[in-house]
Amino acid sequence: MITLAISSQKGGVGKTTTSINLAYAFARSGIKTLLVDADPQGSVGLSLTRQTRSLKGFYDLMEDPKLSVESLVVPTRSKLFSLMTAGQACDYELSGDSSSTSKERVDAFFHELEGLGYELVIMDTAAGLFNTTADVVSACTGVIIPQQAEPLGIRSVPKMLQVLNKMRSSHSELRILGVLLTMELKQLAESREAGQALRAILPEELVFKTTIPRDDLFLRASARGIPAGVMEDGGGALAVYDQLRVEIEARIDSPVFHRT
Ligand SMILES: Nc1ncnc2c1ncn2[C@@H]1O[C@H](COP(=O)(O)OP(=O)(O)OP(=O)(O)O)[C@@H](O)[C@H]1O
Ligand SMILES: [Mg+2]
Repeated sequence: MITLAISSQKGGVGKTTTSINLAYAFARSGIKTLLVDADPQGSVGLSLTRQTRSLKGFYDLMEDPKLSVESLVVPTRSKLFSLMTAGQACDYELSGDSSSTSKERVDAFFHELEGLGYELVIMDTAAGLFNTTADVVSACTGVIIPQQAEPLGIRSVPKMLQVLNKMRSSHSELRILGVLLTMELKQLAESREAGQALRAILPEELVFKTTIPRDDLFLRASARGIPAGVMEDGGGALAVYDQLRVEIEARIDSPVFHRT
């Protein structure tokens, strides 16, 4: 089973949008995928299914590991695509109890999901690398770092990579899969230049070739609680996230991606 964390130092850079649309792209390609909202603010849950506000989810499990993982999984219309909300116990994260226990609980959670037959788990996280978020990221196979293609945002990326590299020294399995440029405005020089500046300071393989364009389609899709690819005019979104999926698969050598 592959576990991917979508993580960033800054907020509002497109983590949740990336998580939802990438999870959908993998599920469409035939991989049994679970999207987990590990952001205590609970945005995936709000976004994807309107009745999920009262459901238990990831943080309830962190607080009480005796809960059944299977009972927390919310099915969607697509057989290979399920999700888990952040749940009701988001205070757990703020209470300070999380730091001593969540590492083992995240590991146990992944182990159980593997037993349930999931092939891929995508973890949408809160901005920053603190508390449970740090444990989630360090327990994953790989981390993807969305970054808005705008000049000020780019500056935070090297710092984020430093923190992740430090994390890697104690969790050597974690792979930094790359920085994903989001909300790119190709027609705007500042946006293009921000992307070029990022590629200039990072090794080539650390920035995905795929970039996500700024498009109000993503806003409209999140208002309706669906992946952008499900929208009538979502063909472009499907194509761009599928291209990202292919890039990710090429970076991870795993039997999960050798479909039969
Ligand atoms: N490619 C895009 N084009 C246009 N709007 C976008 C795009 N990606 C994301 N957005 C919008 O930008 C806002 C922030 O995106 P999103 O919620 O995915 O970021 P986030 O990193 O998860 O934020 P947070 O740190 O608050 O969890 C949302 O309103 C979303 O609909
Ligand atoms: Mg988010």
